[in-house]
Amino acid sequence: MVIGRPLFTVDQIQAKVKELGEKITADYGGQELVVVSILRGAFMFTSDLVRSIRVPLTMDFIVASSYVNESTTGKVSIHCDIRENIRGKNVLLVEDIVDTGVTLNHIREMFFQREPKSLKICGLLDKKERRVVDVPIDYKGFDIPNIFVVGYGLDYNNQFRNLPYIAEFKKST
Ligand code: IMP
Ligand code: MG
Repeated sequence: MVIGRPLFTVDQIQAKVKELGEKITADYGGQELVVVSILRGAFMFTSDLVRSIRVPLTMDFIVASSYVNESTTGKVSIHCDIRENIRGKNVLLVEDIVDTGVTLNHIREMFFQREPKSLKICGLLDKKERRVVDVPIDYKGFDIPNIFVVGYGLDYNNQFRNLPYIAEFKKST
C-alpha cells in the first residue's frame, strides 16, 4: 500500500475550509443553522468547518455507508440517524467526498420528507467523473479526478483517517 504525495496540503485545506466557512456565514446572515455531519468520513472536515462559521448553530451526526454490487449502483445504510427535529430549520449537510452521489441523494431525500426550512450541502471533495445521481453541492471545496484518496477523515478500510492532509492511495500490486 502506498500513500502518495499530498494532493491537498494542510495549509491548502485550512485555507479552503476558512473560505467555505466565510461563504456560509455570509449566506445565512445570522440565521440559525443545524449542521449535520455525515460520519464517519466528514468528522474532521466538519470540526474545522464549524469553527469558521459565525452564525448560531447546533450540530448533529448521521452515520451512513454505501455499498455497491453488480446489480445495484449503491445501497445506503443509515446506521445511526440524527436526534434533532429538523422541521422548519435551516439544515447544512456536510460530506467528505461526493463520489457516485448515492449516499448524499439518499440522505437528502430522507431529510426533505422531514420538511426543513432549507437544506443545503457542503462537500469538501467532488469526484465528478464518477457521478451517477445528480446532487447539488452548494458549497464545494475541491474537484478531484477519479482517484482514491485518503486522509483528513477519508479512509481505506477505516485506516488513514488521521492523516492531516489528503493524498492518493494506491494498492500495491
Ligand atoms: P457515494 O455515495 O458514491 O457518493 O460515496 C460517498 C462515500 O464514498 C464517501 O462518503 C466516502 O466514504 C466514500 N468514498 C468515495 N470515494 C472515496 C475516496 O476516494 N476515498 C475515501 N472514501 C471515498
Ligand atoms: Mg465515508
